Amino acid sequence: MLKRKDLLGLIDVSKDELSEILDVAAHMKAKLKAGDKCLSELKGKTATILFYENSTRTRTSFELAAKYLGAQVVNIAAGTSSVAKGETLVDTGKTLDAQLNDFLIMRHPMGGAHYLLSKVVNASVLNAGDGMNEHPTQALLDMLTMTESFGNLQGLKVAILGDIKHSRVAKSNLFGLRTMGAEVYMYAPETLIPKGIDRLGAKLCKTKEEALQDADVVMGLRIQLERQQAGNFPSLSEYAHFYGVSANDLKLAKPHAIVMHPGPVNRGVELTGKVIDHDQSRIEEQVFSGIAVRMAALKLLNDYRNSK
Ligand code: NCD
Repeated sequence: MLKRKDLLGLIDVSKDELSEILDVAAHMKAKLKAGDKCLSELKGKTATILFYENSTRTRTSFELAAKYLGAQVVNIAAGTSSVAKGETLVDTGKTLDAQLNDFLIMRHPMGGAHYLLSKVVNASVLNAGDGMNEHPTQALLDMLTMTESFGNLQGLKVAILGDIKHSRVAKSNLFGLRTMGAEVYMYAPETLIPKGIDRLGAKLCKTKEEALQDADVVMGLRIQLERQQAGNFPSLSEYAHFYGVSANDLKLAKPHAIVMHPGPVNRGVELTGKVIDHDQSRIEEQVFSGIAVRMAALKLLNDYRNSK
């Protein structure tokens, strides 16, 4: 059983815990596929969604996941809350706790904000992205999608190309995939590779060919223009040419390889339109997996709360 109050990151989540979340998520996905969206695991529970950054798919995915499990859901846009009046995160957390929230689902621009919040509230905190640090449920949905294609994550070659430096998705995937026995290859301009990521288990590639050759999974990451004060590369078209993946590049990967991207995609930059719409692309499937994985995380954290 998942023995933790919060889901803050994958850095310290064990193989057994990851396997359990993925198993429950597969079960949830089967129920959703059968049209069963009225489950009762979270009946009588309240989840508040607090996003200090923009989002389309992650916010709606968490909201639907909680609702499909029967929870009551409250949405707070940081711009309309007392945060805009200068309230601290700790005080906001205590206020939400006093309102008997069971789950606080937060996205915050500061890496580590969730650790701070989780220490001061009784509610379970789920990290929906903290700065450039982690995005655990995104990596879990990526792992679920890969498991569906390959049965197992052990020994898979996963090639990640794009803005790795600013990407919480890359870091959570690295931690989760390494724990499950997959190999993670990374390729990007040197300015977009965070220092020391190889010491965390990533294999850094010198060429696109080295990254893509015989890959089982080709994952593009968005070029995060909003996070780049200094120009990290000369132009988007040059980036697309040297670091983007075209249908021709994809031929280097294994014939059964799948293409993934957490979204939102800069069409024609990280991946060409042809690759995004390719029959090997699993980008839409990832979105579906996202709801199932978030249902699994909420259910398992709730089981832990009930066991105490
Ligand atoms: C990512 C994020 O916000 O970290 N998107 C997502 O959650 N699906 C990646 C991104 O913004 O590029």
